[in-house]
Amino acid sequence: MSKTIIFVCLGNICRSPLAEGIAKRYCEEQAYDFEISSAGTGTWHIGNPPCENSIKVAHQNGIDISMQRGVNFDESFVNKYDYVVGLDDSNVMNIKKLGQEKVYKLGDFGFEGKDVPDPYFFDGFEGFDKVFDMIDVCVKNLLNDIKNNKI
Ligand code: 4NP
Repeated sequence: MSKTIIFVCLGNICRSPLAEGIAKRYCEEQAYDFEISSAGTGTWHIGNPPCENSIKVAHQNGIDISMQRGVNFDESFVNKYDYVVGLDDSNVMNIKKLGQEKVYKLGDFGFEGKDVPDPYFFDGFEGFDKVFDMIDVCVKNLLNDIKNNKI
C-alpha cells in the first residue's frame, strides 16, 4: 500500500498547498508511490484556491497549484495518515490538540527545526520565494527519509 502524507498549515492557502505541489512533483520525478494531500486547521478558506502569491511562486518554479482547494483538517482526519506534517509549531500544536498522536514538523527536515514563516501577512510577493525554497528543501528530504525507511 502506498504511504499517505498530509501537509498541514493554518489556512491551507499559502504554505501547505506549496508543500503539496512540490511533493507531488517530486514523487512523479522519483517514482515514489505516495499519496500526497494538504489541509489547514482553520476553516476560513475551505473550498478556496491557494493565495495568488503561492500560485505565482509555484508557477515560477514550474508547478501548477491553481487547481487545489482549501480543506479543513478536523477530527475526522486524526490518525488516518501515515505522516502528518505541520509547517510551524502552532500548526503542530493545533493538530495535536485534535488528538493526532504523531506529528512531524517540516523544518526538522533541513532547516534546523525552524518554522516555515506564515506568508499570509507578508507585504506582497516579497519573501514568497524564500518560503518556497525552504519548503522545497524540507519536503524533498522528508520524502527521501520516508522512502528510505528512516522515519
Ligand atoms: P497558510 O497562511 O497557513 O500558510 O495558508 C494563512 C492563510 C490564511 C490565514 C492565516 C494564515 N487566515 O487567517 O485567514
